[in-house]
Amino acid sequence: MVTASAPGKVYLFGEHAVVYGEPAVPCAIERRATVTVTERSDGLRVQADDLSLNGFTVEYEGKATDRPDIDVSESLVDAGMGYINEAIEQVKDATGAESVGFDVEINSQIPLGAGLGSSAAVAVAAIDAGTRELGVELQPEEIADRAYQVEKKVQDGEASRADTFCSAMGGAVRVEGDDCRQIEAPELPFVVGYDGGAGDTGALVAGVRRLREQYDFAADTVEAIGDIVRNGEQALADGNVEELGRLMDFNHGLLSALGVSSRSLDAMVWAARNGEAHGAKLTGAGGGGCIVALDETAESLTAMEYTPGCEQAFRAELDTTGVQMEAE
Ligand code: MEV
Repeated sequence: MVTASAPGKVYLFGEHAVVYGEPAVPCAIERRATVTVTERSDGLRVQADDLSLNGFTVEYEGKATDRPDIDVSESLVDAGMGYINEAIEQVKDATGAESVGFDVEINSQIPLGAGLGSSAAVAVAAIDAGTRELGVELQPEEIADRAYQVEKKVQDGEASRADTFCSAMGGAVRVEGDDCRQIEAPELPFVVGYDGGAGDTGALVAGVRRLREQYDFAADTVEAIGDIVRNGEQALADGNVEELGRLMDFNHGLLSALGVSSRSLDAMVWAARNGEAHGAKLTGAGGGGCIVALDETAESLTAMEYTPGCEQAFRAELDTTGVQMEAE
């Protein structure tokens, strides 16, 4: 039995545009997914205590199949299971152990499909725990690459390396195509608002692709997000939190234009802005889930707590620890 954990993330800038080769800057946060993998003779049994699913157990490949007890859509559960299946395929590929089975237990502080990188964190932690369980220790860069293959497969070939690299390495990272690196970041006063919902990453990414193909101005919008990221990198290097906030506001506007925001995400963004936030934007694929704001005061937290549609608001610290083994 091996337990490994990996952090979730917020996007300071660049989600969606990163799928088309623009740069993005995600930052790991101190909310982690913890995965325990135990070898068994055959089959796969998955137990999840908290993925906004009220806990579920799925057992198959010759064993009983229970439909999870869910409070989110079936497609989200199928997607969640897809990430775990593919992570296990990567474990088998990395270790050459084709015929083994696994018990997989997931405990996550990261809501599923809410823009905080739950699927990447689960895939990263599962690959680390699974390979270690079979006596193989992979470097974080290889875990990131294998977790990226998982996301690509589940998201029909439309994924960037951003979420998985960030989760495997920790801290702030910059991703542009296959070029992934860790970057310095000043202390960033992240505040997260969560509407209790989720978006379907695959469908949202496909929607942006359609717009981009249909309208030149949508393609320009994607490129403009890349420009924001490049400006944001300079603001990060200068430690200019006010400028970072302004750029986040701009980034949110462009994501809205691309159709990936929602009423509750917009409401939380505006609540944070009406508080003391330097800026606020949705994080991740959108459609529902989370926004991130920069605010060192308690104002935007309070403002969001009083906002209809906001289920939870919390402060999030940058997590400089990427994937790590917790127990064996
Ligand atoms: C999802 O967390 C981020 C997207 O940019 C998709 C991806 O990068 O794979 C929307």
